Formats: sequence, C-alpha cells, structure tokens
Amino acid sequence: MLETRSSRQTLISPGRENMIVDHQQLKELARPLTLVGINRAAAETKATINNSVSANNEHLKQAEMAHRVAIWLSCVLLLAATCQGLKYGYYSRSCPPAEYIVRTVVGSAVRQNPGIGAGLIRMAFHDCFGCDGSVLLDPTPANPRPEKLGPPNFPSLRGFEVIDMAKTAVEKVCPGKVSCADIVQYAGRDASFFLSRGRVSYALPGGRLDGRVSLENETLAFLPPPSFNLTQLIGSFRAKGLSADDMVVLSGSHSVGRSHCSSFSDRIGTPPSNMDPRLAAALRRRCPANPTFSNDPTVVQDAASPNVLDNQYYRNVLGRRVLFTSDAALMTSRRTAAMVRDNARRSGRWEKKFARAMVKMAAIEIKNRANGEVRRNCRVVN
Ligand code: HEM
Repeated sequence: MLETRSSRQTLISPGRENMIVDHQQLKELARPLTLVGINRAAAETKATINNSVSANNEHLKQAEMAHRVAIWLSCVLLLAATCQGLKYGYYSRSCPPAEYIVRTVVGSAVRQNPGIGAGLIRMAFHDCFGCDGSVLLDPTPANPRPEKLGPPNFPSLRGFEVIDMAKTAVEKVCPGKVSCADIVQYAGRDASFFLSRGRVSYALPGGRLDGRVSLENETLAFLPPPSFNLTQLIGSFRAKGLSADDMVVLSGSHSVGRSHCSSFSDRIGTPPSNMDPRLAAALRRRCPANPTFSNDPTVVQDAASPNVLDNQYYRNVLGRRVLFTSDAALMTSRRTAAMVRDNARRSGRWEKKFARAMVKMAAIEIKNRANGEVRRNCRVVN
C-alpha cells in the first residue's frame, strides 16, 4: 500500500520529476492539423479508451452507455444552468480536435503513471477556486510567489507537464484558441474517466479564460487544509457556491493518489485519533514522527484500490481507514454520515454525482474578456 517518494521538485521548475511522455511522443501528438491527424488523434483516443476498459466487453458496453447518458445529463444540466457563459462543444468550430488531443495526452500519461491522473484531478480542484489556469503560472521576477508555490500546491501538486504537453499539441493545430484553464478541466475530466475505467464519464462545457493573477496567499485563504473540521469544510465549499453534498461527493476522489506523511501526521501519533489502529500502525512504520520538507514520504490514500477512482473511499470512511481529519470529519454529522453511507452503498450512483459536481466546480468564478486571456504558454501570462 505504500509508495516511495523520489525527489522534491525545485522552485524553478516544479513538477519536472513527473516528466512522463518523451519528446518523440510529444512531437507525434503535436503534428500539424490534417484530416489524417485529427482522425488519428480520434483513433488513438478511442484505442486508449478501449485499452482502459478492455478488461471485459460487458464492462466496455456499460462504459459506453454510461458515457452517452452522462453526456445527455450534462447537456440537460448545462441548458438549465448555462454555466456562466460556458458552452458544451465550445471548440467545435475554433478547434475541433481540442478535446480529443487532451484526452489522448492524458490517456497516455495515465497509462504510464496512474498517480499523474490523480494529480490532474486534484489540479482541476486546486485551479477551481476560480477556474482560470492560475495554478499553472511559474514564479517570475514580477510575481515571485504564485499559487503554484502555496503550501497546498508545493511540492505536492503534480501533472504540470501533462498540461504543457496538451497545450503544445493543441497550439500546433489551432494556435491561440484553447485556454489553459479549459485544458486543466478537460484533463481532470479525462483522468477521472481513465482512472474510473470509463465509469466517470461526462461532457464538460468550455470557454474559460486564463487569469493574469496568481497569488500564493490565496491558496491558504481558499483551499481547505486536511486539518479542517466539518463546519470549516462546508464553509470553504459554500464560499465558492458548492454544497455540503458536493463536498462529500468530490471528496470521493481521495480513492486515488497519494498523500505526504505531513498531511496526516497529527492523526498517527499520540493521543491516538479515531483512525483504524492497524492503518495507524502501518503509517507509523512508514512515516517519520515529525516529517520535514526533505523527509516526507508518501503513502497511497486508498490501500484497497489505489489507482481506481470508485466509491471505495466511502467504505474507507466508514471503516475509519482514511488519512485526513477532513475525511474522518464526514462522519461527524448525521447529515453527512448519511451521504457517506449512501455513496458507499450503490456503485454507479456516486460516479454520476461526481461527474455532476465536477461540472459544477469547473464553473466557479470564470474570467471574462476584461480580466482573462488565452495564454500562449500555460506557465506565463501573455
Ligand atoms: C474536502 C476538502 C479537501 C481536503 C482537505 C483535501 C486535502 C488533500 C490533501 C492534504 C491531499 C494530499 C496532498 C499530499 O500531501 O500529497 C490530497 C490529495 C488529493 N486530493 Fe484532496 N482534498 C480535499 C478535496 C478534494 C477535492 C474536491 C478533490 C477533487 C475533486 C480532491 C482530489 C485529490 C486527489 C485526486 C488527491 C491525490 C493527488 C495525488 O496523488 O497527487 N481533493 N487532498
């Protein structure tokens, strides 16, 4: 259940340790727009999807059906909400292969390292307390402390290279059209698709613009830390228009990926927390008593199925086999405990709710022409 942490990212180029697609592949993905290119991108995407769900044909059929239903549902939702000017099929004229390209790049990355998929789902969340690609901006002399360096993001947030690759590939075929903010949300959607083996499947409206402001201290102000209790969690989601139900449903993504020991060390020492004593003992063997920046190993969040996005998280919450105070907090009110039990019970239902909540989250505080742009390079403002 435990994974080893390699090296820390540097301040200059956070995330470089996660370079997972080589330059030859990138060149392939970035070849100029031709009909053959689009068709091949589409075929590759389909092949990737098929690979991911090839465990059995029945599964594939279910995934395809679920995909259709999810698209239909998303469209209905979109018509109802109009999602702050976002549009389903936003790039159908300006850059038809955009979503295929992102999905192809993400599929390839997730196949090589499922952890990167988890990173991309988390990135979609961390960028979305204002979904504007601001989490991607590198430090510059003019802005030495961007969001990327905020404690919730540095050094744990991963997947930046995948966004760069998708952006490079998309820029080759339709320069200046597709925002980094949209790529982040499409990548989170596609990572969810692959890690859930096609069960989390939804259409996502596009049209976000990239922000020009990115401040480290906003990450602390808006992103909930793992030490939060239930009232604080609900408050931080409500501040961005998300309900307690959305919070509980989105927390289900803690069924994939990893955590550094420092994020839960308060729960494995003395006095003991309410964590399952066997899990606490395993974590104590893995983690130093006082993790430091240079000695902060990682562990998987869901020992039962670490690379599968599913409702196992809720069974872990019920079994007290979760890492964070914020995870355990879901059982501290009758209302949220009932939500946990409901999500744990029925496989398939949580996936649909998760898709809906991701679409809702991806519409938070969208930028307009006055305060947004389509960046040429996701790491720097134009
Ligand atoms: C409810 C409040 C939340 C808190 C307090 C929280 C906190 C955390 C923390 C501390 C980590 C581990 C970081 C590390 O040490 O490496 C983590 C990982 C993760 N979180 Fe959350 N999170 C929350 C909600 C969400 C939401 C809404 C999503 C996505 C929709 C999400 C997706 C993830 C994923 C996928 C990982 C694994 C990332 C990886 O493996 O790189 N979390 N979260």
